[in-house]
Amino acid sequence: MPAINDKTTLENLLQKMYWIEAEMEQLGTWEARIELMDENIDALEILSHDSDKHWSIIKKWLIRSNTSIPESTPPGLQKQAFDFEDMSAQEMFRTIMKYEILAKNVYEDIKGADPGVIKQLLHSDEDISDFLNDIDQLIKDEEKHASICKRIVGGYQKIMY
Ligand SMILES: [Fe+2]
Repeated sequence: MPAINDKTTLENLLQKMYWIEAEMEQLGTWEARIELMDENIDALEILSHDSDKHWSIIKKWLIRSNTSIPESTPPGLQKQAFDFEDMSAQEMFRTIMKYEILAKNVYEDIKGADPGVIKQLLHSDEDISDFLNDIDQLIKDEEKHASICKRIVGGYQKIMY
């Protein structure tokens, strides 16, 4: 994806991530409905807890930049991101992993946005530097989340072969 070079695109991505982090926070609710080993329950708790933090961070920046907070599913996202009803735990973590990688990529795109566009959104240099520090932290967390999922998915493959 070419660098983000207009304000609307940047706003839309922040709104999209606000929604995705809220959905990821709900992952913990699947614990009881899918038969999971202890390690997987711990993983879901980390993913859910971190997503709750991410959601607050994105919300803070939406407010700070006077961007509206979405009240319904933003365009391009499924109504219900996660439906694990008929999935095995392996399939479940494979699906979550795709979202973790997506989140990491979106945060990287946001970090790489044209500095002029970030300035249109946040104005002050202090806010811009706080924003970019937050985005760096989000990228690191999403990398960690993707590798947690990858390890779990890989673990199931070892059992199967
Ligand atoms: Fe995540």
